[in-house]
Amino acid sequence: MNSPCETAPLLEKSPTQTFLKDVLEGLSAHPKKLSSKYFYDKNGDHLFQQIMAMPEYYLTKCELDIFKNKTQELADSIDYSTPFDLIELGAGDAMKSSFLLEHLCNLDCDFNYMPIDISGNILSVLKENLTEKIPALNIIPLEGDYFDMLDEATKLSERRKVVLFLGGNIGNMSKDEAVNFCTELRKRFSPGDLLLTGFDLKKNPHTILAAYNDGAGITAAFNLNLLARMNRELNADFILTNFEHYQTYDPTSGACRSFLVSRFDQTVHIGNHTVGFKENELIDMEISQKFSLEDIQNMAKKSWFRIVDEIKDSKGWFVDSIWTV
Ligand code: TRP
Repeated sequence: MNSPCETAPLLEKSPTQTFLKDVLEGLSAHPKKLSSKYFYDKNGDHLFQQIMAMPEYYLTKCELDIFKNKTQELADSIDYSTPFDLIELGAGDAMKSSFLLEHLCNLDCDFNYMPIDISGNILSVLKENLTEKIPALNIIPLEGDYFDMLDEATKLSERRKVVLFLGGNIGNMSKDEAVNFCTELRKRFSPGDLLLTGFDLKKNPHTILAAYNDGAGITAAFNLNLLARMNRELNADFILTNFEHYQTYDPTSGACRSFLVSRFDQTVHIGNHTVGFKENELIDMEISQKFSLEDIQNMAKKSWFRIVDEIKDSKGWFVDSIWTV
């Protein structure tokens, strides 16, 4: 029996309380930092749609090229002749993976699709759309944290796992974080399981910088929206024009970074809290790490995986790398 003080719901923080706690923690660090997971409220989702539609933002187009035009290669790389579960981390609306799912159904493969996402809302949209598009597909949506739900998937089924982790997702972690993440995944893998994960490759530095520094200012608006979100949800008083977006790309390390810069000395209130900014003080917003094939090889090795296949888009700008244990 639980004693009253052990009943979790009383102690659990609301999403707004967690947001506030993360923001205050981040803004008291040196340099100041905000977590990019908070970019995606309704406005942020909308701005990100606009980013994906920009000619400069090549990432989504490249991986879509792979899923649309190299579908048989993808199917071959996951050995579709024996039964499996296809588990997608951060499935979203499954726009890219739907091409593979449809192809696997046409090949009459024996598999379940288990999309994992933190947003229950997006999962119900996904289920509705995919059921209409691919009636033969067996979908088991799992709402929650990646690792909790991966454990859940393993409890639900004994088949071998093929885990998809698409987009530049892994690049939004620092190198250490990415290795820790892959090592956590590795702990949940058995022989025969596969990981298929996307990496944005190092390429001409102008091409990379332009994707994150568009002239129309959409990327700037996307970054500034996080300040606007704090005004809306945390009762903050950021003046958006007092901050500017600054983007860097370092072709030697492959780190592409988004910052906001305080244009003046200024004081901002967030609820009852006060945060001071010096002129030119930075807020570190996000890293989008770019990789060479050798970098990917090293990351696989460090987290105890082995690369079995690499599938690039037609320009050779993005790679889906397939790993085994
Ligand atoms: N996280 C994605 C990426 O690294 C999306 C993104 C595009 C992004 N432009 C951005 C994130 C600017 C933060 C800032 O490509």
